[in-house]
Amino acid sequence: MTRTNKDSLNKNDSRNGVLTHLAIIMDGNGRWAENKNLPRLAGHRAGTENIRSIIEESTKLGIKHLTLFAFSTENWRRPSSEVEGIMNILTNVIKNETPSLHQKGVKISHIGSLDGLSQELKEAILYTTDLTRNNKSLYLNIAFNYGGRTEILEAVKKILADNISVRNLDEKTFASYLDTSGIPDPDLIIRTGGEVRLSNFLIWQSAYSEYYSTTKFWPDFKKRDLRKALATYQQRNRRFGEITTD
Ligand code: FPP
Repeated sequence: MTRTNKDSLNKNDSRNGVLTHLAIIMDGNGRWAENKNLPRLAGHRAGTENIRSIIEESTKLGIKHLTLFAFSTENWRRPSSEVEGIMNILTNVIKNETPSLHQKGVKISHIGSLDGLSQELKEAILYTTDLTRNNKSLYLNIAFNYGGRTEILEAVKKILADNISVRNLDEKTFASYLDTSGIPDPDLIIRTGGEVRLSNFLIWQSAYSEYYSTTKFWPDFKKRDLRKALATYQQRNRRFGEITTD
């Protein structure tokens, strides 16, 4: 019998194929557009459209936490027209999608920095995160203006400012200073677009994550591709540094 993520989830044991937290590096929007002789922003728009169905399928598969890498601290180095376009897409998508996501019980959180974002985008993010803060059907984390090294550095600064003693500083305390505080570590990280690297995404949290890379560009990554990634994940033997006894 094929075990579904929902079946596994009831066991609440990531060693048994449970996928509680899925994180996705949505790569390949630009190449998807270039292959079709379209402007790169058309790829970002198609990629954004694709998010809706992946959220739907994730919920159906019993995933509780979904983290999407939308814009890295390094993405500012792109041409200003592309950066501005991505900012506009995010501003519009937050405003347009929030009511239906809220209605579906999705809690939307932002990880990363608000610094450098337009006032309109900042306000949209703050409004949405506040409106949906008590929702529980899916925890959707948008990594926007996010970089793992910056996140770690900021955590260190806050720890020093709080005068946490060396004796009291353990992994749990450290993790509580990260943007992902309270969110379990990702079980699986999917990267579309063919690259096999983390690109500064959740570098602390991914210590024991499984990876899945596909050459499909993000706008072409469909529900069936997500199910395939999950099926692969469920075959993995996660040992967390231990020795298996079975
Ligand atoms: C990666 O493709 C994609 C991005 C850097 C931007 C993705 C941003 C959005 C889709 C905006 C909306 C986000 C949300 C969460 C609603 P790429 O440009 O690196 O593609 P390439 O590798 O082919 O150049």
